[in-house]
Amino acid sequence: MSLVTAGLVFMRLLLAFGAVEDEAPVCQILGSSEFPLLSKEGEVMIGGAFSIHSKISQPPLSFTEKPTRLTCSSVNLREFRYAQTMIFAIEEINRSDFLLPNISIGYRIYDNCASTLSSMRVVMALMNGDGWTVGKSCSEPEKLLKVVEVIQKSTARVIVAFMAHVEMNNLLEQLTLQNITGRQFIGVEAWITADSLVTPASFNVLGGSLGFAVQKANISGLEEFLIKDFWETDFKCNETNNMADAANCKENHDLIELKDYDGDVAELRMSSNIYKAIYAVANSLHHILKCSHSQGCDKPVKVMAWQVVESLKQVNFTIKNGEQVWFDNTGATVAQYEVVNWQRGTNGSIQFKPVGYYDESLPPGQKFVLKNEDIMWPGGKTEANMSTNSKKLEYLNITNLK
Ligand SMILES: *[C@@H]1O[C@H](CO)[C@@H](O)[C@H](O)[C@H]1NC(C)=O
Ligand SMILES: *[C@@H]1O[C@H](CO)[C@@H](O)[C@H](O)[C@H]1NC(C)=O
Ligand SMILES: *[C@@H]1O[C@H](CO)[C@@H](O)[C@H](O)[C@H]1NC(C)=O
Ligand SMILES: *[C@@H]1O[C@H](CO)[C@@H](O)[C@H](O)[C@H]1NC(C)=O
Ligand SMILES: *[C@@H]1O[C@H](CO)[C@@H](O)[C@H](O)[C@H]1NC(C)=O
Ligand SMILES: *[C@@H]1O[C@H](CO)[C@@H](O)[C@H](O)[C@H]1NC(C)=O
Ligand SMILES: *[C@@H]1O[C@H](CO)[C@@H](O)[C@H](O)[C@H]1NC(C)=O
Ligand SMILES: *[C@@H]1O[C@H](CO)[C@@H](O)[C@H](O)[C@H]1NC(C)=O
Ligand SMILES: *[C@@H]1O[C@H](CO)[C@@H](O)[C@H](O)[C@H]1NC(C)=O
Repeated sequence: MSLVTAGLVFMRLLLAFGAVEDEAPVCQILGSSEFPLLSKEGEVMIGGAFSIHSKISQPPLSFTEKPTRLTCSSVNLREFRYAQTMIFAIEEINRSDFLLPNISIGYRIYDNCASTLSSMRVVMALMNGDGWTVGKSCSEPEKLLKVVEVIQKSTARVIVAFMAHVEMNNLLEQLTLQNITGRQFIGVEAWITADSLVTPASFNVLGGSLGFAVQKANISGLEEFLIKDFWETDFKCNETNNMADAANCKENHDLIELKDYDGDVAELRMSSNIYKAIYAVANSLHHILKCSHSQGCDKPVKVMAWQVVESLKQVNFTIKNGEQVWFDNTGATVAQYEVVNWQRGTNGSIQFKPVGYYDESLPPGQKFVLKNEDIMWPGGKTEANMSTNSKKLEYLNITNLK
């Protein structure tokens, strides 16, 4: 994990301990999430917020009646897998006798519907009880078209797209529509290996893209959990459910459709970071609660979030596939990335081919390896367009659409 991904992972996790006796929190997760999407009670609760749905309804604000509940749609499979992975790690830790021996761990997973900002704005406005006017700033689609225009007009052939998955998806739609091709995209983990972006039309735009991806998660039992065990133990929905379950099942019918789907699990990458993040938190708790295999843990004292943060700086552990996890004094982990390239395989299918790596733990001179001969450049060429690349490198930096 790099600084970025570590930051990303921990931003997604919010910790809530001893929830029962806590006073009402000053802040709480908004969105559709008055209730967590998935939860299980325990003595120590670990919370997570994921954009499991990527669209949110904007309720009409008439201020004459109670606004309707925000509803979310369009499942983001990757984010859903992260949430599942979090549960997988928690259950594994809960079963283990070593990390937190006699403590039961629970979780609350909230869905922010990819719209923390807009839902926050809406709800803040509602909470403050004052009138809420839509600002004059341009709308999301207008900004998107602006970015497309900039790309089209720019002479830069190399485009660094540091964007979230949803944003990239929207941008790609427009670029495809307007047939803007021949650009070399440099992508980030958020979208570079996203199966959902792959279509025959999008390949014209993104074929040849290069990007840094977290190495594949190779965690035994995870795949089986994602496609099978989860549905049997944590998300029971079938004809014979009782009334309470039935309501919940009805609400989450779009998730049930993912049952048995396994098309994406071979490409799971960020999941390993979610897994490590949960283990890092558990290791911190192990220290805070003075746990030992023989003596168990201290009775859950009220754990404060800052204690966990302090303790996280000290963790140094190995996960079951042998990877070592620790954080340096800036809070970053050792950066280890695979460089992947969007290519068309010999059978015509589109693949994310590993063409190199960056590994900060290796000695100087060996950290960055790129196998030029394996790279397929935009337009299906096996050599980079030298007339482009020998010029002073000119590139566009699309950080996000905000
Ligand atoms: C943790 O284990 C306890 C029993 O030891 C169980 O009641 C609880 O449901 C488990 N929690 C999770 C998240 O699996
Ligand atoms: C898109 O652009 C490419 C190269 O610029 C061109 O070969 C192709 O015909 C165009 N496709 C459409 C549908 O305009
Ligand atoms: C995954 O881990 C297993 C052992 O746990 C190992 O045999 C296998 O080669 C690993 N696969 C990859 C792709 O690293
Ligand atoms: C439905 O779920 C219940 C409770 O989880 C389980 O006992 C039952 O076997 C399930 N029925 C079917 C048809 O899968
Ligand atoms: C765990 O076990 C130890 C020793 O048996 C005990 O002192 C401690 O209170 C237990 N902790 C919890 C949370 O039950
Ligand atoms: C963590 O442990 C590994 C292996 O024991 C060691 O090589 C590494 O230096 C440790 N890192 C820190 C920050 O202590
Ligand atoms: C095409 O080849 C890739 C490996 O090069 C393989 O993973 C994929 O399953 C193949 N697809 C089809 C449809 O045969
Ligand atoms: C290389 O890039 C330049 C500038 O973008 C372009 O004019 C030229 O046609 C490209 N050459 C090839 C072989 O694609
Ligand atoms: C892109 O822009 C952002 C924000 O302005 C900046 O933080 C980042 O360093 C830039 N990235 C590159 C590769 O220039």
